[in-house]
Amino acid sequence: MDGQELLLNAQGLYSIYEGLEGSTNVVALRGLNIELKKGEFVSIVGTSGAGKSTLMRIIGGLQKPSAGSIKYNGKEIVRMSEDDLVPFRRSQIGFIFQEGNLIPELSGFDNVVKTLRYADVGFSDARKRADELLRSLGLASRMHDLPHRLSGGELQRVSIARALANNPALVLADEPTGNIDYANTDQVMQIFKDLHNDSETAFLIVTHSQHVASYADRHLELSDGMIIGQHGSGSNLYSLAESRSVVVTEIGNLTLPPELLGALDQYGLLWDFSFDVNGNGPRIIGKPSIQQLDKCPVCKSDLNGDTFNCSSCGAKLN
Ligand SMILES: Nc1ncnc2c1ncn2[C@@H]1O[C@H](COP(=O)(O)OP(=O)(O)O)[C@@H](O)[C@H]1O
Ligand SMILES: [Mg+2]
Repeated sequence: MDGQELLLNAQGLYSIYEGLEGSTNVVALRGLNIELKKGEFVSIVGTSGAGKSTLMRIIGGLQKPSAGSIKYNGKEIVRMSEDDLVPFRRSQIGFIFQEGNLIPELSGFDNVVKTLRYADVGFSDARKRADELLRSLGLASRMHDLPHRLSGGELQRVSIARALANNPALVLADEPTGNIDYANTDQVMQIFKDLHNDSETAFLIVTHSQHVASYADRHLELSDGMIIGQHGSGSNLYSLAESRSVVVTEIGNLTLPPELLGALDQYGLLWDFSFDVNGNGPRIIGKPSIQQLDKCPVCKSDLNGDTFNCSSCGAKLN
């Protein structure tokens, strides 16, 4: 597992949900780029509504982006038909979503076996692999129960076993340990790690758990549909500003981190700043430059020394 080769290359992803009648559209992803190498273990962090689940569904080929390109091993999947996408997903991707989606009439064991059979694994090999995986996830005594008899955490572990069963190239996991207690999280992470080490499986994991995130090679920080920062392994999820590297997009856009935007909350003046993230968090060092803008940033008319409001359009200047 040296992970040099690119597995996934997604560029310029937009996702727009049409609002219901009378409401505006929601732009859930705004020109997002993401690359994953084979065998990489990457976590996605970001507040609720940032676009994490949308990104996972789009990368997994479950939902089409409004624009953008998604290549696996150089092959574009955005314009693939559903008929071609089904075998692609079955052979390449393991999904672990909170909804679970187990077949309710089949035991956990049979759910996992069925997934393996879809991937053309022989019957006895499929049974052996399902048994091993479910045991390693602490489900030895529960695997033959129907899903409705299992707890939330047990169901989630069955979904995990199913997602990992046929050694996918990429595991997409959206808060995979949300319903699982600490001890079982360790078991799950151990299995992720084994798969990661043994078979070059890449992982893209949305998580709020520091414990889960601590296994990642890097963390991508998603905010308002864009990746606004990248963090190295071992970062503290609770003080992201301390380890943030800001990311310039391919077209040269730089999205400022939320702390900085908050501090800059003024228009019309040019700021001259450095960004210090040590100590008590980010702050602006220095003063706003006294040089005033000549033109209104909103309506572009000459400001003629206006300080507080543009006399043409009324825009607030500072
Ligand atoms: N099916 C949908 N229809 C309309 N809006 C949606 C839909 N799914 C998500 N959204 C909106 O898109 C944005 C991103 O949502 P989501 O991807 O679920 O974020 P996260 O997983 O980070 O919480 C939110 O504003 C959410 O309300
Ligand atoms: Mg989500």
